[in-house]
Amino acid sequence: MINYSVDADGIATIEWDMPGRSMNVLNNDSIPAFADAIEKAISDEAVKGVVISSGKPDFIAGADLEMLQGWNGAEEMFANGMALQTMFRSMEVSKKPFVAAINGTALGGGLEICLACHRRMAADNPKAKIGLPEVKVGLLPGGGGTQRLPRMIGIQAALPLLLEGTHLSPEKALKIGVIDEIVSSDDLVSAAKKWILSATPEDAVQPWDKKGFRIPGGAPMSPSGMMTFTAGNAMLREKTNGNYPAALNIMSCVYEGCCVNIDNGLKIETRYFVKTCGTPEAKNMIRSLFFGIGNANKLASRPKDIPTQKFTKVGVLGAGMMGAGIAYVSAKAGIDVVLIDQDLAAAEKGKAYSEALLDKAVKRKKMDASKAESILSRITATTDYDQLAGAELVIEAVFENREIKADVTAKAEAVIAKEALFASNTSTLPISGLAEASDRPANFIGLHFFSPVDKMPLVEIICGKETSQETLARSMDYVKAIRKTPIVVNDSRGFYTSRVFGTYVSEGIAMLAEGVSPALIDNAGKMAGMPVGPLALADEVALDLIYKIRNQTKEDLGDKYIAAPSDDAVTKMVEELGRVGKREGKGFYDYPEGGKKHLWKELSEHFPQLPEAEQPSVDEVIKRLIFIQSVETARCLEENVVTTPEDADVGSILGWGFAPSRGGAISQIHTTGVETFVSECDRLAQAYGARFTPPKILRSMAEKGEAFYAA
Ligand code: NAI
Repeated sequence: MINYSVDADGIATIEWDMPGRSMNVLNNDSIPAFADAIEKAISDEAVKGVVISSGKPDFIAGADLEMLQGWNGAEEMFANGMALQTMFRSMEVSKKPFVAAINGTALGGGLEICLACHRRMAADNPKAKIGLPEVKVGLLPGGGGTQRLPRMIGIQAALPLLLEGTHLSPEKALKIGVIDEIVSSDDLVSAAKKWILSATPEDAVQPWDKKGFRIPGGAPMSPSGMMTFTAGNAMLREKTNGNYPAALNIMSCVYEGCCVNIDNGLKIETRYFVKTCGTPEAKNMIRSLFFGIGNANKLASRPKDIPTQKFTKVGVLGAGMMGAGIAYVSAKAGIDVVLIDQDLAAAEKGKAYSEALLDKAVKRKKMDASKAESILSRITATTDYDQLAGAELVIEAVFENREIKADVTAKAEAVIAKEALFASNTSTLPISGLAEASDRPANFIGLHFFSPVDKMPLVEIICGKETSQETLARSMDYVKAIRKTPIVVNDSRGFYTSRVFGTYVSEGIAMLAEGVSPALIDNAGKMAGMPVGPLALADEVALDLIYKIRNQTKEDLGDKYIAAPSDDAVTKMVEELGRVGKREGKGFYDYPEGGKKHLWKELSEHFPQLPEAEQPSVDEVIKRLIFIQSVETARCLEENVVTTPEDADVGSILGWGFAPSRGGAISQIHTTGVETFVSECDRLAQAYGARFTPPKILRSMAEKGEAFYAA
């Protein structure tokens, strides 16, 4: 696992090579083995210096989050955290030069080992990622990262890396001083050894252990430090609304830790680390963003024992906004694409979308021209259905119209093989109904992409009544092949994501109709951690689209239609006021050309506002906006529309941007506690309407004292 050797020059090499894993990680096995090796090297007088290297294509991916979850209670966590700090510190003060030979990706704890070395040499591996991404899962670097990085490159340069968890290429890392040198991959270890042989005793002392050390750019109490923290705190607040304790704690670590010496700084960091690990936000983010998304990407819920399908050719029908995006991500994944539209010009326009994206990537040096060319050459724009022959999958993304969809389904199925899959990207039409146009409904499935397809990571896979498990499994293989994250749902109006997302928008509009201040509504949405307030979002989706879908639903459901509390306000905006949303420059907001959007000044004339004293509290508005999504998600679970809490959480975060720090719509209930959530929903139902009434599944869980997750 950790290979230890000493060469004839007395240089020890500590090589990380964990068996049975593609990546090295810090865990309960590797940490003690590494600590032993470090101790051996330090205590052996014959050892002159130490190279830390990796026997895998990458260096070290970071700490194993399962290990962290296994640490019981704050005391154990503090003890383990300090043991790690002490071990890293022993390298620094050993008086022997330590060099990190960073052959590939070094993230989190992996990079922290490097920071505790006296020199960091990286291979010229453009794929390597270097950074401290802990904040992305609600944590902070607990192996000295918040202390060594600012002491090395200055507080101002370190803060964004720590607060955003940015990954750097070796080239960028060199530029800002996170690493010292880039050498060719083949010479990495020998170059590291060479440096050790020429190192002076001074070289084996960290800058912060030298007399008269000053933090580059100034300490927290210096004039520049004070400016950095004043502006930094304000910016952080603006960006995160206080929803991410990890980020705030990183600020505190850097501020407090850089006011004292490194040893005390490391202790401060460990205290904040323990505090951060115990926050619900860290638990939520680890559960959903790390494990939830990770498991979905590994296709954890794929039906078993069905051979993996390889995709070499897919057809895309409709080369509009969605079809063009689907063609692009497929071609990028190495799949040939036949892109069909009504006329050649429309099909070519769809292909041109890929061309534009690829051109941009080449201009920004993210891709070389020959690769871009080969991706583009995989897309054939045509009107000829015969070209679909040999496709393993056809995805239709034509107009949202049953007849047109039925027509293209029949045309495609006339050409493709019997076992080929047919998928619809419909956003509103039930899949089982669309499957009636298919002569192989078992192979018919919904693949619901999000716009813009090249950026949005989620695909909602919708099983119709007759969709087979094999079709589901093979469709999941396709989603994996195009490097997107799948969740699996069952057929229902609005499926899962659109249905729940709609409740957020609708609750915001309902509040407006009740007389709640629109600024309060939208600010509360953002303060809750949603990317956009519900009224601004309604404008973006388009009020006339919401109106149209509502009318269609009403028509389809007849007597069974349950009026939404936003219905009248939407009708008024569209029919009376002609304000249809952002597209036309007028909705709840005005969108002056070249200017910033602002709430429509006449809004309060049409939706009279309650007097100041009767306005609800921000907390109450936040609760309504968040709980309505969670209670609807619980209903989706009860109705088996979404089948697992994990998929519900992942889908809510990746699909419509449900506040990530809350861990998703179900994690919200879990964190609140099912019993408390149920009683709060009962209160909200009493105050605002039956839409908040908790479904049976929640009542029964509350009665039995059950939880959605173990931790
Ligand atoms: P769009 O209007 O941009 O593109 C539709 C394309 O289909 C047009 O290029 C049109 O010429 C083509 N088309 C129409 N009839 C055709 C036929 N008979 N044969 C071949 N091509 C035909 O629409 P968009 O936004 O791309 O939506 C397409 C589908 O994706 C719809 O079902 C929509 O509900 C769904 N969807 C849309 C999302 C969005 O954000 N716009 C998100 C998820 C799904």
